Amino acid sequence: MRVVSGMRPTGKLHLGHYIGVIENWKRLQDEYESFFFVANWHALSTKYDEGLNLRELSVELVKEWIASGIDPNKVTLFIQSEIKEHAELYLVFNMITPISWLERNPTYKDAMSQPEYKKKNNAGFLTYPVLQTADIVLYDADFVPIGEDQKPHLEIAREIVRHFHYIYKKEIFKEPKELLTKIPRLPGLDGRKMSKSYNNAIYLDESKEEIWQKIRKAKTDPSRIKKTDPGHPEVCIVFEYHKAFSSPDEVKEIEKACKKGEIGCVECKKRCAKNIEKIVMPIREKKAKLKNDEILDIINQGNKKAKLLAEAKMDEVNRVIF
Ligand code: TRP
Ligand code: SF4
Repeated sequence: MRVVSGMRPTGKLHLGHYIGVIENWKRLQDEYESFFFVANWHALSTKYDEGLNLRELSVELVKEWIASGIDPNKVTLFIQSEIKEHAELYLVFNMITPISWLERNPTYKDAMSQPEYKKKNNAGFLTYPVLQTADIVLYDADFVPIGEDQKPHLEIAREIVRHFHYIYKKEIFKEPKELLTKIPRLPGLDGRKMSKSYNNAIYLDESKEEIWQKIRKAKTDPSRIKKTDPGHPEVCIVFEYHKAFSSPDEVKEIEKACKKGEIGCVECKKRCAKNIEKIVMPIREKKAKLKNDEILDIINQGNKKAKLLAEAKMDEVNRVIF
């Protein structure tokens, strides 16, 4: 069974990505034939005018995947724009996809309720799920690991596949299924979603000191002034981090101690920072040792492998159409 998944190269990875995507990919790489790619064309759909250095960001992203435990000997890693068949199939799918399917996509509707996007309203953003469909079906993916927010995109992918089969009377694509993972939502340091744009993230390449300075300032239960005040861990960001990064035993212990007013927030934060360090330090160290040339070799190999499959599928598509 094969999985395909992509990530947009829009900046450094943070703990939210680690918990939400990377840990999942690490499990998948042992169970499935996995293709993970840098969705650099998709990055343009919203950020075409931000002057991103997408070449550098793409190599950095693959480096961070590998530093975080994605094993290039097990999986195929490649860059979307290096495989031109993604663009070719995207073109074909755009021909047969009714705009109404795309306009009811919640991601699109959300964006259109924000004035900045509404002003741009670029075709590439509307057709984002069409490109995503091409990404997936070019490789005959059985499953696509996604979070809840991407479900409508996969629904559109299946609709496009069925529509193509209906029009051309030939079943050449697999209908991809979602591999829904309960993506634990990791809040940022201020309680909003962890995101670079909110400046509330902890990155996978930060030092111990940087991690501590961020955790130190994280929001806790505002009703706790003194150590002996009984706390409410359920409203505390630091406790969310404990749940994500500390052992179940430690989480229970912290919960009890906080509720009883037997642990101070500073001590609790120190323990939290220590457990985050245990994850981040090995990634940071591995990343520092990885050479760009090594990463470029891995990408080249992955591109070649992806290209073979994509070419074969695109030949099939063109034989059906023309
Ligand atoms: N849309 C995905 C995201 O924003 C990225 C993506 C692009 C993707 N193409 C894909 C994910 C194909 C899975 C399969 O996270
Ligand atoms: Fe949060 Fe820990 Fe303070 Fe409780 S003791 S409020 S869990 S930081």
